[in-house]
Amino acid sequence: MTLQVSVIGTNYLGATHAAGLAEFGHQVIGVDIDVDRVKTLNAGQSHIFEVGLEPLLERHTASGRLRFTTDYAEIADWADVHFLALGTPSGPGGAADLSQLYAAVDTLAPLLTKPTLVVGKSTVPVGTAMALEERLRSSSPAGNAIEVAWNPEFLREAYAVEGTLRPDRLVFGTHSRHALELLEEIYAIPITDRVPVIRCDIATSELIKAAANAFLATKISFINAMAQMCQAAGGDVVLLADAIGYDERIGREFLNAGLGFGGGCLPKDIAALAVQAEQLGVDVLSDFIRSVEAINAGQRTELAELAIDQAGGSVAGKRIAVLGAAFKPGTDDTRNSPALTVADQLHAAGADVRIYDPQARLAPREGFTQVASVEQALLGAEVVLHLTEWPEFRQLDPERLGDLVRSRVIIDGRLKLHAPTWRNAGWKLVQIGRANSL
Ligand code: UGA
Repeated sequence: MTLQVSVIGTNYLGATHAAGLAEFGHQVIGVDIDVDRVKTLNAGQSHIFEVGLEPLLERHTASGRLRFTTDYAEIADWADVHFLALGTPSGPGGAADLSQLYAAVDTLAPLLTKPTLVVGKSTVPVGTAMALEERLRSSSPAGNAIEVAWNPEFLREAYAVEGTLRPDRLVFGTHSRHALELLEEIYAIPITDRVPVIRCDIATSELIKAAANAFLATKISFINAMAQMCQAAGGDVVLLADAIGYDERIGREFLNAGLGFGGGCLPKDIAALAVQAEQLGVDVLSDFIRSVEAINAGQRTELAELAIDQAGGSVAGKRIAVLGAAFKPGTDDTRNSPALTVADQLHAAGADVRIYDPQARLAPREGFTQVASVEQALLGAEVVLHLTEWPEFRQLDPERLGDLVRSRVIIDGRLKLHAPTWRNAGWKLVQIGRANSL
């Protein structure tokens, strides 16, 4: 059955979700306060770089199933279901800042006059859904006929479209049969394709998402701690990860050692979970997360220090080339990017940092110059840092690039470069955790 659905918030999550729901056959209106973004999306274009998103936007803005607006009055009583896909950034002290969610429901509530289901997708502290329901009911003409459910999103940037169309699981946190049935209707296509569905209470659904991101962050920090051990003892963390990853209980994914995690999700979601665990007196969890965070921050600092060492003890006045600015390959997103933290630390130590990224466009900022090619970044460099593992960096020709730099030193912060190729071309290639790599 075709439903009328609104998606409030149209950034990475909301834009992809809106396009995905149109692909599932529903009538969809995306809502955002950003006039330019709405204009771009209505033209069938994407304001972000995300593989496969633009063709989907194009197809469904043309088919008439998908459009975008800034006007909540157009969606209020029109939609059978409203999805909330707003950002929940880090607030003071690391707690989640829920102001975007509150602002959206405060705008929507007075316009709702009929029974309505509002479904949250954002990652939130447990208890948020019920607080939003309370808020909606108390300021809407529809009153207690408004219900909130939670359907957390697990999509990954760079795989967002695939993750939306073919999710690996769906989580429906509801407190009524009616809400559950509507969600099952919305996701009828993936459910027919036998995607696992977890039907649970709302608190569990909020916690599931927080736990998923905390576990992923834990895997990364664990392998980075093992990289330190390999470095100290003379082992190879990549082979170690391969070997333990063959055990299905462990799995090889998210065991890539290097600069650690960044982006708009893992760092802020685990910080918010730690804050809430502290508030609830669950110190075992907050202490655990704090050490995951400490390992992660340590990787960035260690890499900057390594670069200073390789530059002879000081980078002051020296040119440093940074390859990669996005927080991971396949995206133009630089939120909490490990590469930029390292670049900032080197700038603070006096370096002249030249940074190149195939997709990320940095706002003009003090401290470093963004250049348009690998060659421009490397020209005259004292040390080269490989900080975001874009596939094209693996294809570089070290022989040719060797003529551009002042000294042939490269630090592979993501352990992805082919060491023999670089070393055979006369480069010193440094990788933390691969002490004995050939
Ligand atoms: C993450 C989760 O993977 C998604 O499941 C979740 O839905 C999303 O957050 C969210 O909460 O919205 P995302 O932030 O897009 O997705 O990126 P990831 O692919 O998880 O990468 C996060 C960071 O970890 C990147 O900086 C990446 O370079 C780093 N990473 C990842 C490693 O350092 N090692 C690894 O083995 C894997």
